[in-house]
Amino acid sequence: MTARPIIIDTDPGQDDAIAILLALASPEFEVLGLTAVAGNVPLTLTEKNARKVCELAGRPEVKVFAGCARPLVRAQVTAEAVHGKTGLDGPDLPEPTMPLQAQHAVDWIVDSLRGAPAGSITLCTLGPLTNIAAAMIKAPDIVPRIAEIVLMGGGFFEGGNTTPAAEFNIYVDPHAAHVVFTSGAKLTMHPLDVTHKALMTPAWIDSLRALGNRTGAAAAAMLDFYERFDMEKYGAEGGPLHDPCVLAYLLKPGLFAGRDCSVEIETGSELTMGMTVVDWWNVTPAPANCRVINAIDSTGFYELIRSRLARLP
Ligand code: RIB
Ligand code: CA
Repeated sequence: MTARPIIIDTDPGQDDAIAILLALASPEFEVLGLTAVAGNVPLTLTEKNARKVCELAGRPEVKVFAGCARPLVRAQVTAEAVHGKTGLDGPDLPEPTMPLQAQHAVDWIVDSLRGAPAGSITLCTLGPLTNIAAAMIKAPDIVPRIAEIVLMGGGFFEGGNTTPAAEFNIYVDPHAAHVVFTSGAKLTMHPLDVTHKALMTPAWIDSLRALGNRTGAAAAAMLDFYERFDMEKYGAEGGPLHDPCVLAYLLKPGLFAGRDCSVEIETGSELTMGMTVVDWWNVTPAPANCRVINAIDSTGFYELIRSRLARLP
Protein backbone atom coordinates (compact mmCIF):
# COMPACT_ATOMS: atom_id res chain seq x y z
CA MET A 1 0.00 0.00 0.00
CA THR A 2 1.35 3.41 -0.97
CA ALA A 3 0.67 5.95 1.74
CA ARG A 4 -1.25 9.09 0.70
CA PRO A 5 0.84 12.24 1.25
CA ILE A 6 -1.22 14.79 3.18
CA ILE A 7 -0.80 18.23 4.70
CA ILE A 8 -3.12 18.99 7.63
CA ASP A 9 -4.03 22.66 8.03
CA THR A 10 -5.46 23.08 11.49
CA ASP A 11 -6.53 25.32 14.40
CA PRO A 12 -6.43 22.93 17.41
CA GLY A 13 -9.07 22.74 18.98
CA GLN A 14 -10.04 19.47 20.58
CA ASP A 15 -11.78 18.11 17.48
CA ASP A 16 -8.73 19.05 15.40
CA ALA A 17 -6.62 17.13 17.92
CA ILE A 18 -8.66 13.95 17.45
CA ALA A 19 -8.35 14.36 13.68
CA ILE A 20 -4.56 14.75 13.94
CA LEU A 21 -4.31 11.70 16.22
CA LEU A 22 -6.39 9.70 13.73
CA ALA A 23 -4.05 10.73 10.93
CA LEU A 24 -0.89 9.94 12.89
CA ALA A 25 -2.27 6.53 13.85
CA SER A 26 -3.06 5.59 10.25
CA PRO A 27 -0.32 4.17 7.99
CA GLU A 28 -2.53 4.97 5.01
CA PHE A 29 -1.23 8.54 5.37
CA GLU A 30 2.18 10.08 4.98
CA VAL A 31 1.70 13.19 7.10
CA LEU A 32 4.09 15.63 5.43
CA GLY A 33 3.41 18.26 8.07
CA LEU A 34 0.90 20.27 10.02
CA THR A 35 0.26 23.94 9.22
CA ALA A 36 -1.32 25.93 12.03
CA VAL A 37 -3.74 28.78 11.39
CA ALA A 38 -5.49 31.26 13.69
CA GLY A 39 -9.00 30.05 14.39
CA ASN A 40 -10.38 28.48 17.53
CA VAL A 41 -7.66 30.34 19.44
CA PRO A 42 -4.85 32.66 18.30
CA LEU A 43 -2.01 31.29 16.19
CA THR A 44 0.45 31.31 19.10
CA LEU A 45 -1.77 28.69 20.72
CA THR A 46 -2.85 26.69 17.67
CA GLU A 47 0.77 26.06 16.66
CA LYS A 48 1.67 25.07 20.22
CA ASN A 49 -1.37 22.80 20.46
CA ALA A 50 -0.46 21.11 17.20
CA ARG A 51 2.96 20.28 18.64
CA LYS A 52 1.42 19.07 21.91
CA VAL A 53 -0.77 16.63 19.98
CA CYS A 54 2.16 15.34 17.93
CA GLU A 55 4.12 14.66 21.12
CA LEU A 56 1.07 13.03 22.72
CA ALA A 57 1.04 10.68 19.71
CA GLY A 58 4.75 9.96 20.16
CA ARG A 59 5.57 11.73 16.89
CA PRO A 60 7.92 14.62 17.75
CA GLU A 61 9.50 14.35 14.31
CA VAL A 62 6.39 15.67 12.57
CA LYS A 63 6.99 19.09 11.04
CA VAL A 64 4.72 21.81 12.43
CA PHE A 65 4.59 25.25 10.81
CA ALA A 66 2.90 28.47 11.88
CA GLY A 67 0.85 30.20 9.22
CA CYS A 68 -1.42 33.22 9.11
CA ALA A 69 -2.21 34.98 12.37
CA ARG A 70 -5.42 36.62 11.10
CA PRO A 71 -7.95 36.33 8.28
CA LEU A 72 -7.27 37.86 4.86
CA VAL A 73 -9.65 40.80 5.35
CA ARG A 74 -11.82 40.54 8.45
CA ALA A 75 -10.79 40.87 12.10
CA GLN A 76 -9.91 37.67 13.93
CA VAL A 77 -12.76 35.80 15.62
CA THR A 78 -11.91 33.00 18.07
CA ALA A 79 -13.87 30.34 19.99
CA GLU A 80 -12.47 30.08 23.50
CA ALA A 81 -16.02 29.57 24.79
CA VAL A 82 -16.01 26.20 23.00
CA HIS A 83 -12.39 25.09 23.30
CA GLY A 84 -11.23 26.84 26.48
CA LYS A 85 -8.62 29.55 26.88
CA THR A 86 -5.79 27.27 25.75
CA GLY A 87 -7.79 25.88 22.84
CA LEU A 88 -7.06 22.38 24.15
CA ASP A 89 -8.64 22.48 27.61
CA GLY A 90 -9.36 19.17 29.28
CA PRO A 91 -6.09 17.27 29.72
CA ASP A 92 -2.99 18.80 31.25
CA LEU A 93 -0.59 18.22 28.36
CA PRO A 94 3.07 19.19 28.83
CA GLU A 95 4.56 22.17 27.05
CA PRO A 96 5.96 20.94 23.72
CA THR A 97 9.69 20.36 23.36
CA MET A 98 9.64 19.57 19.63
CA PRO A 99 10.54 22.58 17.50
CA LEU A 100 8.25 24.82 15.53
CA GLN A 101 9.61 24.98 12.00
CA ALA A 102 11.12 28.33 11.07
CA GLN A 103 9.55 28.56 7.61
CA HIS A 104 6.15 30.23 7.30
CA ALA A 105 3.42 27.67 6.67
CA VAL A 106 2.25 29.38 3.50
CA ASP A 107 5.74 29.25 1.99
CA TRP A 108 6.12 25.61 3.03
CA ILE A 109 2.78 24.67 1.44
CA VAL A 110 3.89 26.34 -1.81
CA ASP A 111 7.33 24.69 -1.74
CA SER A 112 5.85 21.28 -0.88
CA LEU A 113 3.38 21.37 -3.76
CA ARG A 114 6.00 22.61 -6.22
CA GLY A 115 8.48 19.98 -5.06
CA ALA A 116 6.16 16.97 -5.19
CA PRO A 117 4.73 15.21 -8.25
CA ALA A 118 1.67 17.07 -9.51
CA GLY A 119 -1.52 15.66 -8.04
CA SER A 120 0.20 13.77 -5.25
CA ILE A 121 -0.55 15.86 -2.15
CA THR A 122 -3.97 16.08 -0.50
CA LEU A 123 -4.72 19.12 1.66
CA CYS A 124 -6.83 18.31 4.74
CA THR A 125 -8.17 21.56 6.19
CA LEU A 126 -9.70 21.67 9.65
CA GLY A 127 -9.89 25.43 10.29
CA PRO A 128 -10.31 28.75 8.49
CA LEU A 129 -8.88 28.60 4.97
CA THR A 130 -6.51 31.55 5.36
CA ASN A 131 -3.26 29.61 4.82
CA ILE A 132 -4.57 27.78 1.77
CA ALA A 133 -5.94 30.94 0.17
CA ALA A 134 -2.74 32.86 0.88
CA ALA A 135 -0.72 30.08 -0.77
CA MET A 136 -2.99 30.13 -3.82
CA ILE A 137 -2.73 33.91 -4.08
CA LYS A 138 1.05 33.88 -3.68
CA ALA A 139 1.59 30.98 -6.09
CA PRO A 140 -1.35 30.28 -8.41
CA ASP A 141 0.72 27.59 -10.11
CA ILE A 142 0.21 25.30 -7.11
CA VAL A 143 -3.55 24.93 -7.65
CA PRO A 144 -3.40 22.27 -10.40
CA ARG A 145 -0.71 20.48 -8.40
CA ILE A 146 -3.10 19.82 -5.49
CA ALA A 147 -4.61 16.32 -5.62
CA GLU A 148 -7.67 17.50 -3.73
CA ILE A 149 -8.73 19.58 -0.76
CA VAL A 150 -10.90 17.85 1.81
CA LEU A 151 -12.24 20.42 4.23
CA MET A 152 -14.41 20.69 7.29
CA GLY A 153 -16.58 23.76 6.95
CA GLY A 154 -19.87 25.24 5.92
CA GLY A 155 -23.48 24.25 6.31
CA PHE A 156 -26.60 24.43 4.19
CA PHE A 157 -29.87 22.86 5.36
CA GLU A 158 -28.26 22.67 8.82
CA GLY A 159 -27.57 26.41 8.87
CA GLY A 160 -24.68 27.84 10.86
CA ASN A 161 -23.09 27.43 14.30
CA THR A 162 -21.52 30.88 14.52
CA THR A 163 -24.29 32.93 12.95
CA PRO A 164 -27.64 31.56 11.79
CA ALA A 165 -26.13 31.44 8.31
CA ALA A 166 -22.46 30.54 8.77
CA GLU A 167 -20.26 27.81 10.20
CA PHE A 168 -17.16 28.90 12.15
CA ASN A 169 -14.34 27.95 9.74
CA ILE A 170 -15.96 29.74 6.83
CA TYR A 171 -17.32 32.64 8.91
CA VAL A 172 -13.88 33.49 10.33
CA ASP A 173 -12.37 33.94 6.86
CA PRO A 174 -15.06 34.05 4.16
CA HIS A 175 -12.71 35.76 1.70
CA ALA A 176 -10.22 32.92 2.00
CA ALA A 177 -13.04 30.45 1.47
CA HIS A 178 -14.08 32.37 -1.65
CA VAL A 179 -10.54 32.11 -3.01
CA VAL A 180 -10.45 28.35 -2.40
CA PHE A 181 -13.98 27.65 -3.70
CA THR A 182 -13.30 29.60 -6.91
CA SER A 183 -9.78 28.19 -7.41
CA GLY A 184 -10.76 25.21 -9.51
CA ALA A 185 -9.11 22.78 -7.10
CA LYS A 186 -10.91 19.49 -6.50
CA LEU A 187 -12.92 20.08 -3.30
CA THR A 188 -14.78 17.86 -0.87
CA MET A 189 -16.64 19.70 1.88
CA HIS A 190 -17.79 18.23 5.23
CA PRO A 191 -20.38 20.73 6.47
CA LEU A 192 -22.46 20.74 9.64
CA ASP A 193 -25.04 18.76 7.62
CA VAL A 194 -22.82 15.73 8.04
CA THR A 195 -20.97 16.47 11.28
CA HIS A 196 -24.20 17.04 13.20
CA LYS A 197 -25.33 13.53 12.22
CA ALA A 198 -22.55 11.90 14.22
CA LEU A 199 -22.76 12.89 17.86
CA MET A 200 -20.43 11.56 20.53
CA THR A 201 -21.87 9.54 23.39
CA PRO A 202 -20.61 9.32 26.98
CA ALA A 203 -20.11 5.58 26.43
CA TRP A 204 -17.88 6.19 23.43
CA ILE A 205 -15.77 8.72 25.30
CA ASP A 206 -15.48 6.18 28.11
CA SER A 207 -14.30 3.62 25.54
CA LEU A 208 -11.38 5.94 24.79
CA ARG A 209 -10.55 6.11 28.50
CA ALA A 210 -10.70 2.32 28.57
CA LEU A 211 -8.01 2.01 25.88
CA GLY A 212 -5.48 2.16 28.71
CA ASN A 213 -3.03 4.34 26.79
CA ARG A 214 -2.11 7.97 27.37
CA THR A 215 -3.72 8.96 24.07
CA GLY A 216 -7.09 7.55 25.09
CA ALA A 217 -6.95 9.22 28.49
CA ALA A 218 -6.02 12.61 27.02
CA ALA A 219 -8.57 12.35 24.19
CA ALA A 220 -11.33 11.49 26.66
CA ALA A 221 -10.38 14.45 28.85
CA MET A 222 -10.40 16.74 25.79
CA LEU A 223 -13.83 15.55 24.70
CA ASP A 224 -15.36 15.65 28.17
CA PHE A 225 -14.50 19.35 28.15
CA TYR A 226 -15.32 20.02 24.49
CA GLU A 227 -18.73 18.35 24.25
CA ARG A 228 -20.26 20.26 27.17
CA PHE A 229 -20.65 23.35 24.98
CA ASP A 230 -22.55 21.54 22.22
CA MET A 231 -24.67 19.55 24.65
CA GLU A 232 -25.81 22.78 26.31
CA LYS A 233 -26.26 24.45 22.92
CA TYR A 234 -28.08 21.66 21.11
CA GLY A 235 -29.52 19.82 24.09
CA ALA A 236 -28.19 16.61 22.67
CA GLU A 237 -26.62 13.78 24.65
CA GLY A 238 -23.34 14.43 22.91
CA GLY A 239 -21.51 16.90 20.72
CA PRO A 240 -20.46 16.63 17.08
CA LEU A 241 -16.85 15.68 16.32
CA HIS A 242 -16.37 17.82 13.24
CA ASP A 243 -12.77 17.65 12.04
CA PRO A 244 -12.08 13.89 12.15
CA CYS A 245 -14.69 13.52 9.37
CA VAL A 246 -12.04 14.83 6.94
CA LEU A 247 -9.51 12.11 7.74
CA ALA A 248 -12.11 9.36 8.22
CA TYR A 249 -13.46 10.18 4.75
CA LEU A 250 -10.03 9.62 3.22
CA LEU A 251 -9.56 6.40 5.20
CA LYS A 252 -13.03 4.94 4.63
CA PRO A 253 -15.00 6.92 2.03
CA GLY A 254 -17.76 4.31 2.19
CA LEU A 255 -18.74 5.72 5.58
CA PHE A 256 -19.90 8.90 3.84
CA ALA A 257 -22.21 10.03 1.04
CA GLY A 258 -22.95 13.28 -0.75
CA ARG A 259 -23.25 14.87 -4.17
CA ASP A 260 -21.43 17.29 -6.43
CA CYS A 261 -22.86 20.79 -6.14
CA SER A 262 -22.18 24.40 -6.89
CA VAL A 263 -21.04 26.10 -3.67
CA GLU A 264 -20.56 29.85 -3.37
CA ILE A 265 -19.43 31.86 -0.36
CA GLU A 266 -21.20 34.97 0.89
CA THR A 267 -18.71 37.82 1.32
CA GLY A 268 -21.02 40.82 0.84
CA SER A 269 -23.89 40.81 3.29
CA GLU A 270 -23.01 41.06 6.98
CA LEU A 271 -26.25 39.22 7.77
CA THR A 272 -25.18 36.12 5.84
CA MET A 273 -21.40 36.64 5.84
CA GLY A 274 -19.59 33.32 5.41
CA MET A 275 -22.67 31.40 4.34
CA THR A 276 -21.93 28.44 2.05
CA VAL A 277 -24.64 28.76 -0.59
CA VAL A 278 -25.02 25.13 -1.73
CA ASP A 279 -27.08 24.47 -4.86
CA TRP A 280 -28.14 21.03 -3.56
CA TRP A 281 -31.15 20.82 -5.90
CA ASN A 282 -29.15 22.04 -8.92
CA VAL A 283 -31.56 24.92 -9.56
CA THR A 284 -28.92 27.15 -11.15
CA PRO A 285 -26.74 26.62 -14.21
CA ALA A 286 -23.64 27.13 -12.04
CA PRO A 287 -21.26 24.19 -12.51
CA ALA A 288 -20.53 21.94 -9.55
CA ASN A 289 -17.25 22.96 -7.89
CA CYS A 290 -17.41 20.78 -4.78
CA ARG A 291 -18.49 17.39 -3.51
CA VAL A 292 -20.76 18.13 -0.58
CA ILE A 293 -21.00 15.39 2.05
CA ASN A 294 -24.28 15.09 3.94
CA ALA A 295 -24.44 11.50 5.23
CA ILE A 296 -22.30 9.43 7.59
CA ASP A 297 -22.25 5.97 9.16
CA SER A 298 -21.85 7.25 12.71
CA THR A 299 -21.17 3.86 14.26
CA GLY A 300 -18.45 3.07 11.76
CA PHE A 301 -16.98 6.56 12.12
CA TYR A 302 -16.59 6.37 15.89
CA GLU A 303 -15.30 2.78 15.82
CA LEU A 304 -12.66 3.81 13.27
CA ILE A 305 -11.43 6.61 15.55
CA ARG A 306 -11.45 4.40 18.65
CA SER A 307 -9.62 1.52 16.96
CA ARG A 308 -6.95 3.82 15.52
CA LEU A 309 -6.32 5.72 18.74
CA ALA A 310 -5.76 2.33 20.37
CA ARG A 311 -2.61 2.05 18.24
CA LEU A 312 -1.00 5.14 19.77
CA PRO A 313 1.07 5.38 22.99
O1 RIB B 1 -17.47 24.66 13.11
C1 RIB B 1 -16.61 23.65 13.55
C2 RIB B 1 -15.20 23.94 13.13
O2 RIB B 1 -14.76 25.16 13.74
C3 RIB B 1 -14.20 22.87 13.60
O3 RIB B 1 -13.13 22.82 12.71
C4 RIB B 1 -13.73 23.40 14.93
O4 RIB B 1 -12.43 22.94 15.27
C5 RIB B 1 -13.69 24.88 14.64
O5 RIB B 1 -12.45 25.15 13.99
CA1 CA C 1 -10.85 23.09 13.55
